[in-house]
Amino acid sequence: GLRKKEVNVLCLGLDNSGKTTIINQLKPTNHSNHLGPFSEDWKHVSQTQAQEIVPTIGFNIEKFKSSSLSFTVFDMSGQSRYRNLWEHYYKESHAIIFVIDSGDKLRMVVAKEELDTLLNHEDIRSKRIPVLFFANKIDLRDAMSSVKVSQMLCLENIKDKPWHICASNAIKGEGLQEGLDWLQGNVS
Ligand code: GTP
Ligand code: MG
Repeated sequence: GLRKKEVNVLCLGLDNSGKTTIINQLKPTNHSNHLGPFSEDWKHVSQTQAQEIVPTIGFNIEKFKSSSLSFTVFDMSGQSRYRNLWEHYYKESHAIIFVIDSGDKLRMVVAKEELDTLLNHEDIRSKRIPVLFFANKIDLRDAMSSVKVSQMLCLENIKDKPWHICASNAIKGEGLQEGLDWLQGNVS
C-alpha cells in the first residue's frame, strides 16, 4: 500500500507535567486510547507501559501509527538541566504537544517563559506547525480550568500557528483522544 506520511511530534513542557504519562497512554495495549491499528513491530513497546513512570532522562523516542500517519514522538525531559536539548529538535518537528500541570500554579510563569522561548525560537517562529496544549491533571482538586491555563499562558497571542487546548487526565486517559484527533487534522 501507500507509504504513511512521517510526522515528527515534539512533546514539551515542564518536568512532572505528565508528558510521559500521556505518551504511555497511546501505547498499543491501551485499547481505549490508541491512535489506530498498530503493526506487530510495536507490540514489544507496550511492555514498558505497565512499569512505573519515572522522570525522563534526556528524552525518549516512541513510534505510533494511525491509518494514514506514522508518528515519531520525542518525549523530552522537562527538567531544567535538560531543557536545552529541546531546540535541537525544532527544525525537524511537524507538530508540538505542550503539556501543563494545571495544578502547578507556582510554576505557571515558568511554563509561560519556556513556551515564549519556544515560540520565539528562530526554528519555530516562522513555521506554521500545530501546537496542541494539554491542560493536564484536571483531576487535582485545585487544578485550574483549561480556560484559566490558556489565559495564564496568553495563548490568544499565538496568531501564526494553529493551536488547541484540551483539559486532560493522563492517568485515566481522558481528553487525550480529542487532542490527538485535532493534531492529526492539523498536520500538513
Ligand atoms: P519529566 O519526564 O520529568 O519531564 O516529567 P513528565 O512530564 O514526563 O511527567 P510524568 O509523565 O513522569 O508524570 C509526573 C507525575 O505526574 C507522575 O507521578 C504521574 O503519575 C503524574 N500524573 C501525570 N498525569 C497526571 C494526571 O492527569 N493527574 C494526576 N493526578 N497525576 C498525573
Ligand atoms: Mg517524562
